[in-house]
Amino acid sequence: MQIEPIKQKCVLVIRDLCTQLQAIHIDQLERKWITISMLVIGFFVGIIVIDAFFHGVNPPSKVETIDSASLHLNKEFAEDNLGVQVDDKGNVIVRMVAGRYSFFPKHIEVPAETPITLRWVSMDVLHGVHIPMTNMSTMIVPGYVAEVTTTFPKPGEYPVLCNEYCGLGHNHMWSNISVIAKEDLDCSSKVCKRRIKQ
Ligand code: CUA
Repeated sequence: MQIEPIKQKCVLVIRDLCTQLQAIHIDQLERKWITISMLVIGFFVGIIVIDAFFHGVNPPSKVETIDSASLHLNKEFAEDNLGVQVDDKGNVIVRMVAGRYSFFPKHIEVPAETPITLRWVSMDVLHGVHIPMTNMSTMIVPGYVAEVTTTFPKPGEYPVLCNEYCGLGHNHMWSNISVIAKEDLDCSSKVCKRRIKQ
């Protein structure tokens, strides 16, 4: 296919459009309001762009489905696979199951200042998960895998809270994550282990 003629055609169309737009008479006041509305739109689009690229706030990029009724038979979310794992590329992956009324495993240890990919599934109803001080906040819809990558800024105990009403025990549904200083946790093998201090 010839690219040049298409390019020329596009330039002609844009030029034509510009001349037509310039020929339209726009009242001074109208012009002012058009500028203001364009600035407002630009401001909101800017917020979305900054959030998406710098704060990691994205819509679900892909829909990954899973059979919630047979998680124990599923290779990825079988009991032995839950918790913290390090993949071949050295990425820290956390697999968690939400169920009435807890997150499983109940407690995990992860390194601070390290990107961590958390993968969540629900074994029963709709849950939510929120970890204060991080961008970790998502719904956990039965039948789907929710994936969020986050970084814990500093060591400490972080609560993991359910933020979708899921039943009478909803307010008791929480667990916690111990975030350990990067240098105290060895994640060079398949799992993360505490370094023994000399
Ligand atoms: Cu689980 Cu609320």
